[in-house]
Amino acid sequence: MRFDAVPVVDFGGQYCHLIVRRVREFGVYSEILPQDISAEGIRALEGKYNLRGLILSGGPSSATEAGAPSCDPAIFGLSKPILGICYGHQLIAKLFGGRVERLGAGEFGIAYARIKRPKGILRGLKGRERVWMSHRDSVVEAPKGFEVLAHTKDCPVASFGSFKRKLFGVQWHPEVIHTDSGRTVIKNFLFHICGCEPNWGLGDFVGKAVEYVRGAVGDGRAIIALSGGIDSSTAAVLASRALGKRLTAVFVDHGFMREGEPEAIRRAFERFDIELVVREERDRFLRRLRGIADPEAKRRAIGEEFVRVFEEVAREKGAKYLVQGTIYPDRIESGSSRHSDKIKTHHNVGGLPLSMEFEGIVEPLKDLYKDEVREVAKGLGLPEEFVRRQPFPGPGLAVRIIGEVTEEKLEALRRADAIVREEFESKGLGEYLWQYFAVLTDTKSTGVKGDSRAYGYVVAIRAVESADAMTAKFAKIPYGVLERISTRIANEVPEVTRVVYDITHKPPATIEWE
Ligand code: XMP
Repeated sequence: MRFDAVPVVDFGGQYCHLIVRRVREFGVYSEILPQDISAEGIRALEGKYNLRGLILSGGPSSATEAGAPSCDPAIFGLSKPILGICYGHQLIAKLFGGRVERLGAGEFGIAYARIKRPKGILRGLKGRERVWMSHRDSVVEAPKGFEVLAHTKDCPVASFGSFKRKLFGVQWHPEVIHTDSGRTVIKNFLFHICGCEPNWGLGDFVGKAVEYVRGAVGDGRAIIALSGGIDSSTAAVLASRALGKRLTAVFVDHGFMREGEPEAIRRAFERFDIELVVREERDRFLRRLRGIADPEAKRRAIGEEFVRVFEEVAREKGAKYLVQGTIYPDRIESGSSRHSDKIKTHHNVGGLPLSMEFEGIVEPLKDLYKDEVREVAKGLGLPEEFVRRQPFPGPGLAVRIIGEVTEEKLEALRRADAIVREEFESKGLGEYLWQYFAVLTDTKSTGVKGDSRAYGYVVAIRAVESADAMTAKFAKIPYGVLERISTRIANEVPEVTRVVYDITHKPPATIEWE
């Protein structure tokens, strides 16, 4: 059956993914379209799904500046309902002859909208609604034929609509959780304005993905690199359903995993009857890192060594196809990320820079978001500990040891990290946090242990709340938990004399220390 869809035109990545996720949560398919897509390009999507409407996303640009991004004006002639959000709202105003001006200080954060007409996309909203805003420019006059539906203290046209043309705009962000009736606005647009049926879901995803892998690999052999993370694990189980013994999963144990992790990966995959090759390469990686203190140089060295080991196994197995756990956000290059600075080179096994030639790359999860992958993983019977596993960098503990990595430091950090995890998990704090871990700093500090002077490492504890790792807040965890962690680490890890808690948000700090 063909499903209904409302895709999102991308004016700035950060918001776009969130809107797509909200639409999908209502059982309507959505995906990101590039800002310069033509009306013809959009019409062609009708071959793939029932195109019911379009959303124009928010973005960092200013609609009042020359050269501000626009869209093909012919998309308004497609006779599909369109909802503009933030920048998209201003763009509709501009293209239809309304007025957009720069506001003094702008509105950032929580604001209160007066709902003048609770109809169309605002159906069911109260007279006063808490909304989340992030804008400098504002629509000050709606285009002719458009009704003003809402305003705020500083924004005279916070929502408008032309019921005849089925064109609507909101200045606030209905996709973020801080907007109280955000979901209602999106729901109204999907079902009340676009007339969508909620007929998309992950229901038969597994069946289709298995078919896709079979079609892509034919009667060949494939290989997949496992990191222990949810994406590569789920892709491996899916691919093995399609290929059986023609799939080899490779786990390269570089020695930078957390306590108990390599064993957990072996155990988890035993139950799936997947051919799993474990390459123990701890010494090789430690040797390779000798004398390297710079974080980027460490990442590069680990990445290169990893690929070398992986390629050795691929050649041994004669695999011509590479299966990867790439997910949707890894794939879509958004406007803002295209222009963003390189902060760190993330190495993960989803994006191996291979020098080997494969006949094909197979990516069964390429259209899914992380929470959707989790749902698929659960359905496939992956153990709960995998489904809930917090993100862990590809280079592992090596980038949580500041400076050169040595065996002694690795052992100390592994113990300290295990204590942090045990304490957070025993208090049920893990569920609310994006990540929580220990970092071994390169600072040494004086302490007293058993009546004598000790001179040991300083361990930092990092725990953050985040929705997507783009921004993060340090977690305000109870002092009692910190106290227990600090006492345990200082007592149980002889190399450590001092424990500190990191109270920096991202930005300005990143989540990992390196
Ligand atoms: P930062 O430190 O950049 O991290 O705020 C954002 C998220 O990415 C993870 N991270 C990595 N993941 N390879 C990875 O696969 C890496 O080199 C790497 N560095 C950071 C980090 O744990 C956080 O979830």
